[in-house]
Amino acid sequence: MSHIPHRSHWNSRWTFMLATAGSAIGLGNIWKLPYMIGVNGGSAFVLVFVISIFLVGIPLMMTEILLGRRAQKNPLDGIQTLAIEAKKSSLWRYLGGMGMLTGLLILGFYSVIGGWVLAYISEAVSGSFSQITALQSTANFDALLASPFKLLFWHTVFILMTMSVVAHGVNSGLEKANNILIPALFAILLVLLGYSMSEGDMQTAFQFMFKPDFSKITPVSVLSALGHAFFSLSLGMGAVMVYGSYLQRNVSIARTTIYIALADTLLGLLVGLAIYSLVFANHLAPNAGPGLIFQTLPIAFGHMPGGNIIGVLFFLLVAFAAWTSSISLVEPTIAWIVENTKIKRHAAALILGVAVWLLGVAVALSFNEWKDIKIVFNLNIFETLDKLTSTVLLPLGGLLMAIFAGYFMNKNHVQEELNLNDQAFKLWRIANNYIAPIAIAAVFLYLFGLIK
Ligand code: TRP
Repeated sequence: MSHIPHRSHWNSRWTFMLATAGSAIGLGNIWKLPYMIGVNGGSAFVLVFVISIFLVGIPLMMTEILLGRRAQKNPLDGIQTLAIEAKKSSLWRYLGGMGMLTGLLILGFYSVIGGWVLAYISEAVSGSFSQITALQSTANFDALLASPFKLLFWHTVFILMTMSVVAHGVNSGLEKANNILIPALFAILLVLLGYSMSEGDMQTAFQFMFKPDFSKITPVSVLSALGHAFFSLSLGMGAVMVYGSYLQRNVSIARTTIYIALADTLLGLLVGLAIYSLVFANHLAPNAGPGLIFQTLPIAFGHMPGGNIIGVLFFLLVAFAAWTSSISLVEPTIAWIVENTKIKRHAAALILGVAVWLLGVAVALSFNEWKDIKIVFNLNIFETLDKLTSTVLLPLGGLLMAIFAGYFMNKNHVQEELNLNDQAFKLWRIANNYIAPIAIAAVFLYLFGLIK
């Protein structure tokens, strides 16, 4: 490596891919996508989401990796370095700063939901899903939400898990476990899907998710779907950029990106099918919101043969997927602190851990004691953080990264990193320079009422 010889690198392309896939695959696929589909009108949302992944997500993931690999630094210093290399204003570094902040804001609620998953591991272990009815399952989940003590306990455990890995650095070995655990997650999902197919209402679920119904497409659902494409692929805040900065020179960015995006999208849609098949068979509401998977899946585990064990395994794997995602939310900031101050990794992890923990306390309380505290647009603390990050900060970060790479960097430098043939490079440029920025800007402008 020419710039900084001592910077650690992934052992191989495979490790990078697993780490980035580990970052992408998480609660976004398993918890968030399914309920967002239900809240936003089913197939209309799915369609816009899939289009967003292909037209915006994949090209911008390539952009983010190339920025990171060229810069070889944390997002803030990295973008500054690239701006200087291109003889452009170093104010661009605040784009990196915004991303770091966004990651911490996301972790503030991600850790609380990660806590729900941990709580459900313990529920599953104690056998409480056995023969459970839909009503009982919903009541169970409501009881969890109503208990600040439980929420705070599991949120604390999740933060400790995240920070203890981050304190040791990215090559700690956790990512290697992905090697087995992501395929295991897919495998168990197939079991779940098999159950949903035989006992659930797969036909209705399929229609709900895939039968086009353009009448349900609204500006808000388009923005939500676009925002979720960013969230699901971990884009727009520098996580992928930092992982890219640890990537070796000889690896194809395009191919790696496509594999990751396909796996991520497929996984989310399969979970969605499994869930909705159960939702319709049990006459549950598809628009139940954030509790959806916690209310529906126990019904399946409680009735299928071997469901006790499968339930434990499932929630364990989801917790693991959430864990490998959450570390990527803090890694950019940790890298920045370590590379700019005398503070050591361990201390940095401790400081950020406390800060994010406090934010999470507010989020946890917003499900019970502080439920009625509204921040903006009648949204409570959790909803505000979620919407602010997914529908504003991530797309905005992505928009600016696309503009930076497309219009401010030297074209030859970009091509050097992407290393594509002429045709593929042209395609990427069309997506990065025109389609993605215009799509994101148009959605923003529409929502601000500036265009009709
Ligand atoms: N993509 C992860 C998920 O789907 C969440 C996540 C991790 C994330 N790092 C990110 C989202 C960075 C946005 C930006 O669960």
